[in-house]
Amino acid sequence: MALPVNWKILLIDDDEDIRDIMSITLKDAGYSVICAPDGHTGLMLAAREEPQIVITDIKMPGMSGLEVLEKIKKIKPETEVIVTTGFGDIKKAVKALQYDASDFISKPVDDAALHMALKRARQRYIDKKQLSDYTALLERDLKTMEQEVSNQAKLLHREKMVSLGRLAASMVHEINNPLSGILNYIRLMIRISGKDNNLKSNLTLEKRQDQANKFNSYLEIIESETQRCSDLVSGLLKFSRKTNLEQKSIDVTDLIQHSLLLCNHKLELSNIVLNVRCNPDVLPVFGDFNQLEQCIINLIFNAIDAMENGGNLKIETGFNPEEKHVFISIKDNGKGISKEDLNFIFEPFFTTKSEGYGVGLGLSSAYGIVEKHKGTIVVESRLDHGSEFIIKLPPEKKEF
Ligand SMILES: Nc1ncnc2c1ncn2[C@@H]1O[C@H](COP(=O)(O)OP(=O)(O)OP(=O)(O)O)[C@@H](O)[C@H]1O
Ligand SMILES: [Mg+2]
Repeated sequence: MALPVNWKILLIDDDEDIRDIMSITLKDAGYSVICAPDGHTGLMLAAREEPQIVITDIKMPGMSGLEVLEKIKKIKPETEVIVTTGFGDIKKAVKALQYDASDFISKPVDDAALHMALKRARQRYIDKKQLSDYTALLERDLKTMEQEVSNQAKLLHREKMVSLGRLAASMVHEINNPLSGILNYIRLMIRISGKDNNLKSNLTLEKRQDQANKFNSYLEIIESETQRCSDLVSGLLKFSRKTNLEQKSIDVTDLIQHSLLLCNHKLELSNIVLNVRCNPDVLPVFGDFNQLEQCIINLIFNAIDAMENGGNLKIETGFNPEEKHVFISIKDNGKGISKEDLNFIFEPFFTTKSEGYGVGLGLSSAYGIVEKHKGTIVVESRLDHGSEFIIKLPPEKKEF
């Protein structure tokens, strides 16, 4: 009779007759059998032949069955060990069970008892194997999941760096404007004060007061223009820093204003009219300010790219009481997205832009960020009419 799986049994007994009789019975039942006359040989065969089941006599000269059991469980814990016990060995049999023997059968061995014990041992072996396979599978999945999370983080950072490069390039213009303004006012002041020195004695008090007022207003302009440069640079630095996920309460209007600070100049340069409607009563959301900012900037950049010859960009925030979510809508009247492309836009590396203009990571990273915040992004678009991307986020506090 053949068993469905090739079951190999190692039989350890110092009594040759018992070995012979039992191995005939076991072979008849479909097992393949190896025999050992003592514990040492048994252990050596167990390591070499890797039987799933070991049947060992408990009382043997030299190494006892209990020692064999203990050692086998150490080298191959999945092996099932059945001990055979003589009359008066009950204490040892109990000990064997404590050492994780699967069963014990008393001598002389009765066929029915032997087969019952083997059946239980086989089942235990299968159950344990399934459990360990399952655990290994879980561990493997966990590792792949960890790997995926780390890849995602790398991808997000890379995307951020790409946006940063584009931001930095367009910001050069923006910083240059206030700088040349500052320079002009300083030159003007130098000229006035030079003239002043020459004519000092001839200046009336009224004239002097007038010039002091002029200087004050120039200095105010210089101060505010320098502040603008500094805000731009610090905004850029903050955006470029590889920050960890920082969870806090976020004011949505604040979020939009911050994102726009980094995009305004690009909008101006691209002849885009901006229309922002931030509902001041919108509930705060909870999450990572920097990441959500990055997400909004990606959407604004896409809108700008879609309006090559200028256009209108509408940004609106609010709360949808039916669906109970905070929304941020970014709507352009640019070239729109074809039905076909709509299926792919959120996939990493999907881009319709020419080399050097797009990597295809903006929307996939935005999607990932919003998903992490338990929100969704939806898009509506018509070719040649424009697109609207809506970020929907749960409000921080559920009671409203
Ligand atoms: N507002 C939009 N109008 C028209 N097409 C859009 C708009 N937003 C996205 N798309 C389309 O979706 C594609 C994918 O956008 P995504 O932001 O992921 O990548 P990208 O802008 O091409 O490159 P990257 O953002 O990495 O610089 C774009 O190439 C474009 O075809
Ligand atoms: Mg993009």
